[in-house]
Amino acid sequence: MLNSDEIDAVDVPGRPSPSIRELLERDSRPVDPVLVEDRNDCLADGPQGLDTRQYFSREFQQLENEQLWSRVWQIACREEQIPNVGDYVLYEAAGKSLIITRAAPEEIRAYYNACLHRGRALCEKDGRGINFRCKFHGWVYSLQGKLIAVPSEWDFPNVKQGEYRLPQAKVGRWGGFVFINMDPDSISLQEYIKDIPEHFARWHYEDRHLVGHVGQVVRANWKVAAEAFLENYHVMATHPQVLPFVGDANSQYTVRNDRPHYSRLIFALGVASPHIAAHTTAEQVRTGLLTSQTRQGEYDIAWPLAEGKTVRDSAAEGKRAGLRALNLDGVEAYSDSELLDGWVYSLFPNFTLWGGAANICYRFRPWGDDPEMSLLEIMLLPRLPKGAPRPPAAKMTLLGPEQTLLDSPELGEGGAFFNQDLYNMAWVQKGMRSLRVPMTYARYQESPIRHFHKTLNRYIAGGRPA
Ligand code: FES
Ligand SMILES: [Fe+2]
Repeated sequence: MLNSDEIDAVDVPGRPSPSIRELLERDSRPVDPVLVEDRNDCLADGPQGLDTRQYFSREFQQLENEQLWSRVWQIACREEQIPNVGDYVLYEAAGKSLIITRAAPEEIRAYYNACLHRGRALCEKDGRGINFRCKFHGWVYSLQGKLIAVPSEWDFPNVKQGEYRLPQAKVGRWGGFVFINMDPDSISLQEYIKDIPEHFARWHYEDRHLVGHVGQVVRANWKVAAEAFLENYHVMATHPQVLPFVGDANSQYTVRNDRPHYSRLIFALGVASPHIAAHTTAEQVRTGLLTSQTRQGEYDIAWPLAEGKTVRDSAAEGKRAGLRALNLDGVEAYSDSELLDGWVYSLFPNFTLWGGAANICYRFRPWGDDPEMSLLEIMLLPRLPKGAPRPPAAKMTLLGPEQTLLDSPELGEGGAFFNQDLYNMAWVQKGMRSLRVPMTYARYQESPIRHFHKTLNRYIAGGRPA
């Protein structure tokens, strides 16, 4: 249910139906107005054809290290990865290493991972301790970052214990995610993510738990990997098996000039792709959807196609029943769309999180110092019922460049789907080196890519988009 008079829709000539708005109007539940916006400020805006050297030159990589990674808010870890005081994980970005630690029950800090004596890395891997002791000469720092012991102290007349402190990056927290920012003059996390917390209020990332974490080393620049998840234009050619039950060409893309740090893609499940809808029966839609969801190990029950109901009606009821059994707050109020559809938010520069009842996030990072290698991480973050035991957060399974996502036990058969994206990435990287004309972008379906590059260009030029 949606009163379409209340909210303006962007006019996108040729966008096929059913649009997301039309589907929301037919929803069995009221749709939260905060979620309904259909706006696009990038239809004719943003970089139109990029110099592909951005994807392989070391000079541009250097610029990204100095102007992007050192100055943006980025997700370093989940809170459940460091549940106890003294737990820490390492986060690497821009060639720098940070120790993200729980210094007190409610206090998380990010220390630069370098001893103040002669700079040895203090920590080599994730762990837990009551302090940090350097393995080189034994200087010791408290969890609060204070230098508390110096062997042969008599030989360091200038070093005053208590005055020496490990330098810190800024830390921000939202939805169970721990963000860091290495720029002391950055805008606040709140200003950076703007209304994301409002959008995600019903989806309770703060109650979620990292139950699976896969890292795949990719033979492509990190932006090639990130861009693969910014648009659905590739679905027809890359993932043809989902066309019977996924709306691709009718996806909705929300990009705003006053939201430089995120874009949103919404796409429908339980309708056939506009490319093949004329030749697809409701039963084919239902079978396709049911088979795919069962494969992904979601909590659906085998719902029937009820008389007089659409596939979406029946699928949403099935999913609602499955969630109800988990005893989660707020599920009854979820619209059909929140239960079924892809509500995909891409947080600049490198994080994608799904809203609604979905449970998946992606992160993209440079890997080592080769601009043509990156790390694609997939995290599974379901909501856990209130009071349910919280097992230790999942450790990352790292898949090297010779492996594929088919080798990931966490993703099950879903690995085959992501593998289709992964397979493209190396070939995109290779092709970009041979491209002799600027790239061409779709006006609407690839508007999030232009929006991404507009923000990136502003950082590279030294600006601080807000
Ligand atoms: S470098 Fe750490 S104690 Fe010397
Ligand atoms: Fe894809």
